[in-house]
Amino acid sequence: MSLMSEKDLYKFPDDFKFACATAAYQVEGAFNEDGRAASIWDTFTHEGGSANHDTGDIACNSYHLWKRDIEMIKSLGVQQYRFSISWPRILPDGTTKNVNQKGVDYYKNLVKALINEGIEPMITLFHWDLPQSLQDRGGFINPEIIQNFADFARFCFKTFGDSVKFWITFNEPIIFTEMGHCGHPWEHAPGAFGKHNQWIHYWVAHNIMLAHAHAVKVYREEFKEKQGGQIGIVQVLSDYYPMTHKKEDEEAAESMRYFFQERFLQPIYGDGNYPEHVKNRIWENCKKQGRITSRLPEITEEEKKLIKGSADFIGVNYYLSHRVRALEDGEANIASGNVLDIDIGGKFSDWLNDHPDGFRASLNLFKKRYGDIPIYITENGVRDSPGEGLHDPSRIKYLRGHLVAVAQAIQDGVNVKGYTVWSLMDNFEWGFGYDRKYGIFQVDFNDPNRKRTPKESAEFFKNVVKTRSVQA
Ligand code: NOJ
Repeated sequence: MSLMSEKDLYKFPDDFKFACATAAYQVEGAFNEDGRAASIWDTFTHEGGSANHDTGDIACNSYHLWKRDIEMIKSLGVQQYRFSISWPRILPDGTTKNVNQKGVDYYKNLVKALINEGIEPMITLFHWDLPQSLQDRGGFINPEIIQNFADFARFCFKTFGDSVKFWITFNEPIIFTEMGHCGHPWEHAPGAFGKHNQWIHYWVAHNIMLAHAHAVKVYREEFKEKQGGQIGIVQVLSDYYPMTHKKEDEEAAESMRYFFQERFLQPIYGDGNYPEHVKNRIWENCKKQGRITSRLPEITEEEKKLIKGSADFIGVNYYLSHRVRALEDGEANIASGNVLDIDIGGKFSDWLNDHPDGFRASLNLFKKRYGDIPIYITENGVRDSPGEGLHDPSRIKYLRGHLVAVAQAIQDGVNVKGYTVWSLMDNFEWGFGYDRKYGIFQVDFNDPNRKRTPKESAEFFKNVVKTRSVQA
């Protein structure tokens, strides 16, 4: 064991919040109980969309075992718990015409029990499980979704908002739009829908942006003052490094950053619009195809006013960074592993999977571009390394490194207010089913009672929370 010096000890500010997280479809199960209707993930998994034909039908069975979940959260000593509401559990057809009271009661009980334990609920309204009935009407392609989402959000603010002070509209719009609507090799629901028209994802992203902004408007105009909470959105941050110092690679890395990241940040935290780079590049591609208008929807002046500034904070999910290279002559972008359908000028050459420096750098870049808006790390974590289970030194190394990066970013002057570990427990990892496990508690999926056991990383995280510090 090496001797640690004081300078390796990073302290977190007194008001810094530690948290752990899950999402409804990944943990709840009880997919057809007590009036819950299907979401696009039920449809997708029942059609064999995920690895091994895995489904979230039972998952961690948190619908029945939530009291055990609360014991686990409590044992960590965290200040907040981030979870999501399953839209089709409380509004089965997606609209407020039919309310499923049993579903509402489930979340009311959960919220109440958390608050009794002194843990603040942090609710995500949309963590990808759209009611199937709304998908049948076009899902996020149909602009009606903007109203549907605002109504759902209003219902949640009204029903839970006296106790819940921390709201997230959407989780990772980039992942939902690209992996769900572009025929990605690691596809997400709704899946095949987008395969035949590679352009619809621009509309999906656009309507998400508007749905988010409308929900924030509802909160600010009707609830914020009375309830005193805050509302934001969760975005993915990464760093994008050029593979070499060649100009082409540097431009490629910037281009990828614009398409995968700034395209979602700039409208909300910047000037209300898509970045010029993205607009120009899509338009150039469209012209080459003989089109006379761009496939990228335009944000109108009125919409700009609504979108710009529509967040009290940003939720950041950071997992990894990328090395990027320019496309070689004649290399088709679509065939080169990117999710987007046009020539966006670069290609991922490498995934930097345990890269805390990219975390610190991307937090600093966010500050540089968008200023001091509060940042909550809403997810950070890593899947089990081969051969590791309850004994998970690789995860401890990853978490330690990334917590240090957060502490360093705070020292750099970045306004980071909280850190959430993903995930409280092993759960249904979307297209990978139960093959990938991110929990700091292990879940035995062969056990009908879904026994949960802390991994060593849970002990590590508990100690960080208790001492409010991390040793590099
Ligand atoms: C981000 C997603 O929000 C979450 O649902 C997922 O499990 C983790 N990434 C890990 O891939």
